[in-house]
Amino acid sequence: MTETVSTLHSELSPTFPSDRTCPYQLPEQYSRLRAAHGALQKVTLYDGRTAWVVTKHETARALLADPRMSSDRAHPDFPATSPRFVSFRDRRPAFIGLDPPEHGPKRRMMISEFTVRRVKSLRPEIERIVDGFIDDMLAAGPPADLVRQFALPIPSMVICRLLGVPYEDHELFQDASRRLLQSTTAEDAIAAREHLDHYLDGLITRLQAEPRPGLLTSLIDDQLANGEIDREELVSSAILLLVAGHETTASMTSLSVITLLEHPDQHAALRADPALIPGAVEELLRYLSIADIAGGRFAKADIEIEGQLIKAGEGVIISNSISNRDATVFDEPDTFDVHRSARHHIAFGYGVHQCLGQNLARLELEIILTSLLARVPTLRLAVPVAKLKLRPGHTIQGVNELPVTW
Ligand code: HEM
Repeated sequence: MTETVSTLHSELSPTFPSDRTCPYQLPEQYSRLRAAHGALQKVTLYDGRTAWVVTKHETARALLADPRMSSDRAHPDFPATSPRFVSFRDRRPAFIGLDPPEHGPKRRMMISEFTVRRVKSLRPEIERIVDGFIDDMLAAGPPADLVRQFALPIPSMVICRLLGVPYEDHELFQDASRRLLQSTTAEDAIAAREHLDHYLDGLITRLQAEPRPGLLTSLIDDQLANGEIDREELVSSAILLLVAGHETTASMTSLSVITLLEHPDQHAALRADPALIPGAVEELLRYLSIADIAGGRFAKADIEIEGQLIKAGEGVIISNSISNRDATVFDEPDTFDVHRSARHHIAFGYGVHQCLGQNLARLELEIILTSLLARVPTLRLAVPVAKLKLRPGHTIQGVNELPVTW
């Protein structure tokens, strides 16, 4: 009987997530979900289970702030959008997978490095890092792979400095992070996760013997020493910070460059008036919504909302790419417009799990775009945009390679 019901659901509900065919537009399926009546639609996940997808901005915010929703990725009710989600099972979760009241104290342990004030103080160093990678790219001459030579190393180097991770190890952790986020099988995801576990556990041992300035050493000296966090949790949280700290900003950089090059009028507006760049960063965050499946949750109790009943145990995916294109909140939402005020987007999530690194990401993107537009004014894609290989829908949106010239 259960099988019949689930087969019936799969036939009626569209599959989710979908792959983008354009780096900056919603997949067609998402536009259809957005156009459908109501704020919640039933979809079928890769494993045949069904879940709700939230398509309206107001409902997305209400559910992200609802204490009856759980973020526990290790729980069997969590709506897995690909087989790689098994890598979260059977281990102490990082705080992104904890619910209140456990979540708050763990998040607060990490916050000192991510406050507006601390991040502001990093500006000169980030400017130096960005200029250094532009110098190297210009010296090597066109063409270049913007991902490998620019978009990926900048946030990697910045997060290494903040955490106290040696940047010399970047190939190892970048490669394992990419495999973790893009693996299509459970085995590959577990292998990548074990690689990162092993690396971070070894690094903690090295830092205990030879401390380096940064968040990891202070967590080791304070919270690990006094038992506020255990070693497995520290490893999980270090992986979260290291992976989220570089993969997201790198993807935003590549997709932002593509979007600007494909919208010459908007590109020209920013070059003519760089004061528009902070606002353009917000619009790019809204428009690109790269972490669009990050809002996975399941209901811990029945929830009635927008005329629908989400039953306890049902999965909900609060899609920020669809909600950030809600026409009742953003006029002509499919239009990229650097002059609009987009700051109320939910590209960084909403509620207690709202992105810890958002101040850092904003500053990095602002500096990256300011320097790149000023110093490489003739930058252009070296291949037509239709030829770019986009990442699949089940992971952070982006490209693994971006051939450019100037
Ligand atoms: C443009 C870049 C970024 C985007 C679009 C982004 C997006 C997100 C989103 C949507 C969430 C919410 C997940 C949820 O609701 O479950 C989140 C959480 C998080 N992000 Fe980011 N992020 C970015 C950059 C960063 C950076 C640079 C860091 C630095 C370490 C970071 C660290 C985190 C952490 C630790 C969490 C979990 C917070 C918690 O559970 O309390 N992110 N991010």
